[in-house]
Amino acid sequence: MIRYSEPMDARSPSNTPVKCRRVLVVVHASLVPPESLEGYTPQQIQDWRAEYDIVSTLRASGHDVRVLGVLDSLVELRSVIAEWEPHVVFNLLEEFDGIVAYDQHVPAFLEMLRQPYTGCNPRGLLISRDKALCKQVFAFHRIPTPQFAVFRRGQRLHVPKQLRYPLFVKSTTDDASLGIAQASVVEDAASLRARVEFVFDQNNSDVLVEEYIEGRECYVGVIGNERLTRLPVWELDFGSMPSNQSAIATRKVKWDLDYRSRYGIGSRPAVDLPAGVEAQLDRLSRRIYRALGLSGFARMDFRVRADGSVFVLEANANPHLAAHEDFARSAAAAGLGYPQLLQRLISLGHAYRSPWRVLYG
Ligand SMILES: Nc1ncnc2c1ncn2[C@@H]1O[C@H](COP(=O)(O)OP(=O)(O)O)[C@@H](O)[C@H]1O
Ligand SMILES: [Mg+2]
Repeated sequence: MIRYSEPMDARSPSNTPVKCRRVLVVVHASLVPPESLEGYTPQQIQDWRAEYDIVSTLRASGHDVRVLGVLDSLVELRSVIAEWEPHVVFNLLEEFDGIVAYDQHVPAFLEMLRQPYTGCNPRGLLISRDKALCKQVFAFHRIPTPQFAVFRRGQRLHVPKQLRYPLFVKSTTDDASLGIAQASVVEDAASLRARVEFVFDQNNSDVLVEEYIEGRECYVGVIGNERLTRLPVWELDFGSMPSNQSAIATRKVKWDLDYRSRYGIGSRPAVDLPAGVEAQLDRLSRRIYRALGLSGFARMDFRVRADGSVFVLEANANPHLAAHEDFARSAAAAGLGYPQLLQRLISLGHAYRSPWRVLYG
């Protein structure tokens, strides 16, 4: 078990501990959290749970917190920064103007204002958002990932011969299991074709087709900029899902609370992993984090076969940060409670060596 200890890069460049007081939490305009959870159903709360947990925890920790909802303009963000001079922006935006591919522009804008912020840098967000590009980077670094092909809109559907069924069909850019269902696992060319068309239409993106990896589903959190802390391996337990269904994290499995409780689906520390797997996951997570140039915090998704072979599915920069979600729970299991986790992300945001800091100190 890895215990948490405060590494050097949680400190400011002058090496004095940072105590942030003014924290500007930037969220999607529709996810500004209410003052209290009263009167909301669990399914409603789920939408803005991370925002609520972060704002209430930072306030309880003594920070002066303001929340700003952003939809399609950065004008207000700029003026709040100019007037209030927050020590840090806690960045919870995952899109801009409804476009997920624009998520990296917000931290890029903050960097141009010389404003420290939490989470991943713009380049890491841009690269990790593109699953096809990530897989090319993984191949260069010999990081094991399922064999794959990318289908671009308008191109003839040609399936490389070396790809073996069953195959898995998903968007190259969407996350949160958007467009992922039992039908994402395909056994033949006809269902492959149908699902590729479905993803083109529904997700409005290019399509990634991978070999389907049967096995356990493990998540590994990493925190840091230069020095990295790896969190305990977490596992999604598919509970008593019917055996005629593939054990995959579909949209329902991830987000439908009734479905999860009906089948006893939940996540917990991974136990009894085959020999050597934890060490592999540790090495791989760090290599992936560095290969993609991530900063702040991230979570890697893996599949682990019964024979102990490990495959990375994707890297999530700025993963979901609600207190009861995998990332925060695995941090807590390493001795890093939620308020400390948030404080650590703030310190890392403050200490991040962005280009302006490198040049002007
Ligand atoms: N090649 C694959 N083999 C087996 N399962 C997969 C594969 N790719 C994705 N999955 C399943 O689909 C889920 C979502 O895929 P992922 O690539 O992590 O996308 P997302 O960004 O939506 O989380 C995974 O957690 C896993 O359960
Ligand atoms: Mg995932």
